[in-house]
Amino acid sequence: MLKARSSGNAVADRRFAYAMAYKAGGDPASAAELVVQALDEAPDWAAGWLALGDLNETLGRRREAIDTYRQALRLDPADEAGAGARLARLGEMPPDGAMTPAHIAALFDEYAPRFERSLVDDLSYRGPALLRMALEGIGRNGPFQRALDLGCGTGLVGEAFRPLCQDIVGVDLSAAMLAKARAKQVYRQLEQAEIADFLLRQAADSADLILAADVFIYLGDLDNIFHQAARILVSGGLFVFTIQSHSEPAAFILNHDLRYAHSRGGIENWVTGAGLHLRHLDDAWARTDRGMPVPGQVVVLER
Ligand SMILES: C[S@@+](CC[C@H](N)C(=O)[O-])C[C@H]1O[C@@H](n2cnc3c(N)ncnc32)[C@H](O)[C@@H]1O
Repeated sequence: MLKARSSGNAVADRRFAYAMAYKAGGDPASAAELVVQALDEAPDWAAGWLALGDLNETLGRRREAIDTYRQALRLDPADEAGAGARLARLGEMPPDGAMTPAHIAALFDEYAPRFERSLVDDLSYRGPALLRMALEGIGRNGPFQRALDLGCGTGLVGEAFRPLCQDIVGVDLSAAMLAKARAKQVYRQLEQAEIADFLLRQAADSADLILAADVFIYLGDLDNIFHQAARILVSGGLFVFTIQSHSEPAAFILNHDLRYAHSRGGIENWVTGAGLHLRHLDDAWARTDRGMPVPGQVVVLER
């Protein structure tokens, strides 16, 4: 759905609206029929194909779901709608890179107006507090000269770390999330960019703190990020982040909820490969899901 809420065809939009009403009313089969009718009117509407894929999945029609997601991806190769992540979840695409920058930006542009209420109030979010507690736990409370906040969102991490840092630079893909962060006036600079691209542009030895709260759930392979962090951090600089955890052998998996989870072994391998040092890795949940803490960890690495 996301940005492409409208197909651009009034008849298709009306059928789609009826379809969503049937879906909300617990009748995915009728909803799917109506989406098919909407797509007869607007066959190039990627978000419509994605919605049909979701309904097919709900109905247990795996083969049809795969075909409809593939059609969405053909129509929108940048994949704002998120067909790639769904195909990866179904085992039809490699998980790494399945969440495209266009999809993340669209997801959070839509989420931004209710992000803090939903995350903090409804899901008991405590990512920024976990990062601070982890640093306190190893006796490193700043002051820090230049901190980078990866996936800064609406600026909750910036707010929490403002008293400890001279400058904080935030980066995020979502313009709407960045607008909220800007309004907090806690960042020296905010950039709309993908994290890996942003890191590549940072000079060597140019930061003494890198922060990432609840962001690596959108990134699979962290090897490149860890190498970049090792290059950018000054000696003794710290890289603090939360992850959603899992205990399978793979370094990372894409969960059913379309979020990545990382394993302790995977993190340790990337740390060693990047020449960083593991200072702290402990179980800690950053938010809840349906009232239950989501298993996770908070990690502190040192250059
Ligand atoms: C769950 S929010 C967390 C925001 C913030 N760190 C906090 O603790 O409140 C995740 C944020 O990361 C951003 N994001 C996810 N993947 C990204 C990427 N590859 N590059 C830049 N931003 C990304 C999203 O746009 C979103 O604003």
